[in-house]
Amino acid sequence: MKTMSVTQFQKRRNILIKKINELGGGIIIIPNAKEFYRNNGNKFQYRHDSNFYYLSGFTEPNSCIVLVAGKQSKSFLFCLSKNKDNELWDGEVYGNEIASSIFKFDYSYPIEKFDVVISEIIKNHMSNNSIYIEINKYIEDQKHEIFDSIKEQIKTTKKIKNICDLSDLINEMRLIKDNSEIKTMKLAAQISAEAHLDLLKYCKVGMYEYELESRICYNFRKQGAQATSYNSIVASGKNSCTLHYIKNNQKIKDGDLILVDAGCELNSYASDITRTFPANGKFSPPQLAIYNIVLEAQKAAIYACRTNNNFNDPHQAALNILVQGLLDEKILVGNKDEIIENHKYKQFYPHSTSHWIGLDVHDVGSYYSLEDNIKHWTKLKNGMLLTIEPGLYIKPSQNIPNHFWNIGIRIEDTILIKGNTCEIITKNVPVKAHEIEEIMQFSNNKIINCDFCKKQ
Ligand code: GLY
Ligand code: MN
Ligand code: MN
Repeated sequence: MKTMSVTQFQKRRNILIKKINELGGGIIIIPNAKEFYRNNGNKFQYRHDSNFYYLSGFTEPNSCIVLVAGKQSKSFLFCLSKNKDNELWDGEVYGNEIASSIFKFDYSYPIEKFDVVISEIIKNHMSNNSIYIEINKYIEDQKHEIFDSIKEQIKTTKKIKNICDLSDLINEMRLIKDNSEIKTMKLAAQISAEAHLDLLKYCKVGMYEYELESRICYNFRKQGAQATSYNSIVASGKNSCTLHYIKNNQKIKDGDLILVDAGCELNSYASDITRTFPANGKFSPPQLAIYNIVLEAQKAAIYACRTNNNFNDPHQAALNILVQGLLDEKILVGNKDEIIENHKYKQFYPHSTSHWIGLDVHDVGSYYSLEDNIKHWTKLKNGMLLTIEPGLYIKPSQNIPNHFWNIGIRIEDTILIKGNTCEIITKNVPVKAHEIEEIMQFSNNKIINCDFCKKQ
């Protein structure tokens, strides 16, 4: 299903050109991501570079965008040309001859001509002696042919005097999502939420973690999502305390909690959901106690998601509840403010509550700026999307009552900022403990009245 229009990408290129023009002009070069080999003659599934996609809508490998910001702006797309032999193996490509008209670039050239054409562009259209690239990728991407070519240009072309970083300008644009992005992200969130809901009904004690992983991936793909937006985490029992557990190879036991952190990627946009539920359909009292602390923390953090609050406000709101909960359960002792101030909760809550989400699951955009060494957290604005994902992870330890050992709980939703409130775009999967229990027991035919099931 198509959710983006070609003119939207063109509009973004024009905004970027305008910004560079305001800085005096220059030539912008954005290569697409490289392809990577898994082993002999066998590639990993290709994923385009997010910035490249954001400005083009083009998803074929071996491609590059060049934009001229000057008296006369120009846009160039370099891509694969039509070639029957290559297309026999890798499938049809647009070909440079028609790609420019479809994707609304002024010109397009075969990628093999990049070296020659870029030196002409620099010779004829360079203003302000500046080229704009993503410097981090330029430095890191040692074996990227386009970056190699740019390095050669920089070495040999005296005209290039300034190499400027493009990243902040694009990151700032990507931080606020437009309507087409929001629409796509809501669809991705809906697919992921339905797949999580299905998992609650599907899960049985005695299954292997990978059976849940494959079931959720099946549902993502069945609904048209192209990929997962990160490696799915299906962590049962003590594995739930390993934050990036992706082995997903253990048998699910009676009494285990299962933490599932999985989201699909739809039309290049990510979704990100975590639910934690009891394998046998019923939380034990200690599991329920910790679950409800995390849920309260999530609720408080979501309440803080509104314009004029800043990025750190939801985290502080969550911390306040998490630490109070740990004190109430005697897992921590001491003074709440002092524990928060000195990060003494980190043993149980080592990560932060939020990240931006968009084309990348951990999306670009600054979290704070520094002025006179003082941290100013980014203000939340309409059209921003972030996750709210508090958690508690309790590893075995002498000082902690052993009924809490190996309980790992995270609850994660994706949130759209909307003025004085926000929208939970992943809300179609239950989060309250009793709703989760009802759904799981309903699907095991143990109960017949489940409000959430009836609503579906
Ligand atoms: N799934 C990655 C994260 O929650 O940040
Ligand atoms: Mn996340
Ligand atoms: Mn996640």
